[in-house]
Amino acid sequence: MTNSTPVKIVETVLRDGHQSLAATRMRMEDMIPVLEQLDEVGYHALEAWGGATFDSCLRFLNEDPWQRLRTLRKHLTKTPIQMLLRGQNILGYNNYADDVVREFVHRSVDNGVRIIRVFDALNDVRNLECAMKAAKESGAHVQGALVYTISPYHKDEDFLRVAKDLISLGADSICIKDMAGLLSPYAAYSLVKTLKAETTVPIDLHTHYTSGMGSMTYLKAIEAGVDIIDCALSPFALGTSQPATEAMIAALEGTERDTGLSKDKLFPIADFFRGVKTSLEKDFKLNTNISIDTKVLTYQIPGGMLSNMLNQMKEQGAEDKYPLVLEEMPRVRAELGYPPLVTPTSQIVGSMAAFNVMVGERYKIVPREVKDIVRGKYGRTPGPIDPELMKLILGDEPRIDHRPADDIPPQLESLKQDLAAKGFPNASMEDVLSYAVFPDVALAFFEKNRR
Ligand code: CO
Repeated sequence: MTNSTPVKIVETVLRDGHQSLAATRMRMEDMIPVLEQLDEVGYHALEAWGGATFDSCLRFLNEDPWQRLRTLRKHLTKTPIQMLLRGQNILGYNNYADDVVREFVHRSVDNGVRIIRVFDALNDVRNLECAMKAAKESGAHVQGALVYTISPYHKDEDFLRVAKDLISLGADSICIKDMAGLLSPYAAYSLVKTLKAETTVPIDLHTHYTSGMGSMTYLKAIEAGVDIIDCALSPFALGTSQPATEAMIAALEGTERDTGLSKDKLFPIADFFRGVKTSLEKDFKLNTNISIDTKVLTYQIPGGMLSNMLNQMKEQGAEDKYPLVLEEMPRVRAELGYPPLVTPTSQIVGSMAAFNVMVGERYKIVPREVKDIVRGKYGRTPGPIDPELMKLILGDEPRIDHRPADDIPPQLESLKQDLAAKGFPNASMEDVLSYAVFPDVALAFFEKNRR
């Protein structure tokens, strides 16, 4: 059946747009003046919270992320606020106990989030169970994301299986999350067709322009019947960010999938954000002019990571080894069972590849996180781990084959006590959760702002 409904748009300028192009530095005051205008556009949702914004608020902007959410809610009375959540990792880099995950989700919804997009780096749905259940309990719309990558273990039918698992866990919609811009137009057509034919929930496509294919990919996905696309207003679009909102609206005007949104209404808002971009560049010494890099199609590294990696190697005076690390990365990825490269697996595969090259002997130094992937602490990898690597790292130790969070006892009470011992006995639950996810950064923030 063909889809002839208007294409819906999720606007990402308040989250992924600046996360991708401006190191997540957009401040509350950069948003407030246009929030009411954004609210009037008719977007399906405004992605405005979660992802790296939480960390960035506390670490760089001296902002309470929970207060940001409440401020957003105050100004956005019509359009749902959407957040991105890394399943059992919440917004951090470790697996947390179920009680922390549950409370975090509940507080997010209490403070204003209405759509929660959850993903797990390995597409292991067991890592999403707890967050999805909590989101359902709190009445949010739960969007289960399929982390897209290319490998022998990521065919349409593999993604369909994950999608069905997510739906059986209560997903109200499914997102294809193409964080590295690897999804080609025809692959998108095929995947969306498969998902639309075999499921009944709305399908949302989230891509990045990193490889230069983004808007072609959206167009083919739209032809295949995709329901929702994620776009960023032009000043925070393209490069390693999403396709531009205004351009997608224009491309669909007068067709049967016309979004019904007015691009003219967006021009003044886009002009405003052009100014914001200039001030972020100046205030944080950023280069937001990130051009596309077609090499991502080979190396499969998400937006921003290529340049981060290059910078790190420059700092160590090992710039000349950069091409070798890039070549090592796909090998490491295959040996680790083809994890999609997204936080945190992108960093893990990246640092392992860097060690292999710099040390000059493969797997001589193995970071703890790599051992943990091999042990199964992050969940099931899409493909099998290389048996020799498994032997090298595990020895006779058994592999974890249950849901990893089952091994983590409740943490909330001890976090509260911890925080009390550090001089904050009356911390709000929100502060406890900030502390849970980013202990050092949160504590520094409290010292400055809660005394
Ligand atoms: Co993204």
